[in-house]
Amino acid sequence: MNDAAVTDGKIIDGKAFAAGLRRRIAEQVRALQARHGFTPGLAVVLVGENPASKVYVKNKGEQTKESGMKSFEHKLPDSTSQAELLALVDRLNKDPAVNGILVQLPLPKQIDPQAVLNAIHPDKDVDGFHVVNAGRLATGGQGLVPCTPLGCLLLLKDRLGDLTGKRAVVVGRSNIVGKPMAQLLLNENCTVTIAHSRTHDLAAECRRADIVIAAVGKAEMVRGDWIARGATVIDVGINRIDAGNGKTKLVGDVAYAEAMPHAGAITPVPGGVGPMTIACLLQNTLTAACRQRGIAVP
Ligand SMILES: NC(=O)c1ccc[n+]([C@@H]2O[C@H](COP(=O)([O-])OP(=O)(O)OC[C@H]3O[C@@H](n4cnc5c(N)ncnc54)[C@H](OP(=O)(O)O)[C@@H]3O)[C@@H](O)[C@H]2O)c1
Repeated sequence: MNDAAVTDGKIIDGKAFAAGLRRRIAEQVRALQARHGFTPGLAVVLVGENPASKVYVKNKGEQTKESGMKSFEHKLPDSTSQAELLALVDRLNKDPAVNGILVQLPLPKQIDPQAVLNAIHPDKDVDGFHVVNAGRLATGGQGLVPCTPLGCLLLLKDRLGDLTGKRAVVVGRSNIVGKPMAQLLLNENCTVTIAHSRTHDLAAECRRADIVIAAVGKAEMVRGDWIARGATVIDVGINRIDAGNGKTKLVGDVAYAEAMPHAGAITPVPGGVGPMTIACLLQNTLTAACRQRGIAVP
């Protein structure tokens, strides 16, 4: 069997799906402007000089503007106190031009991230990290859902349709990916297992799954023979490893080439889940803006 025969139709192209989603959001923004005369706005707050965070914030700002929404960027020095950051969040909470607020993590050590995340008004919490939104997701209420797991769910539903009754294993239990992912799958009537660093025989847990979501942060930890024949694999991991010749490359948490022959469908890294995160941030901003204005969410 040649490589093309093995990969044919199996690769879930998150980059293309995210581009389509961003186009639909831009159309909806134009429709809101035409019918209701307002433009949703997203405020992104960056504290300090973390190089990765600077790239994320730049990309978020650019894609927000490309969608036709307003982008408000707030860059604060590394020495910013928690009180100063909370004061900015308070101003943004009260600003009617700002429909969504995102404070880029990680924050400098003098600032308690949970205190800041919980200071954002839950209805403007487009990252979905506020304890109220976590509670709404857990109890089936109408909240805002964390962007990365939301992106994973959209890719899964696009590929598989109805997820009812599927056995899903989520590897990782972080508040930003693993737990909300498990909750979303439960809401879709999957039978969900959450695995973590203390799980006994992770390989066996994965082999039982129709859907494997890997959100661990360990390069290629999930091996090919952990994947049941025909299972759908969503790889959230982003790991930079040595590629030889003094170069580096990005790989996921799943050994992609090994998993490919087993999987029915699989997301690549890069180009799978990654591009979905900002697209879902824009979706959340649009959703938040419509709810705040009492307009039906498109
Ligand atoms: N836009 C995106 O695509 C996007 C967004 C967010 C994150 N990510 C990536 O996704 C990955 C996970 O991110 P995160 O924030 O969820 O990470 P995290 O907070 O570090 O959580 C990692 C989870 O993996 C579990 N784990 C660690 N070692 C394990 C092992 N040997 N076996 C089983 N489980 C193990 C941990 O278990 P314990 O709880 O027991 O410690 C923990 O629950 C990272 O690579 C990150 O870069 C990508």
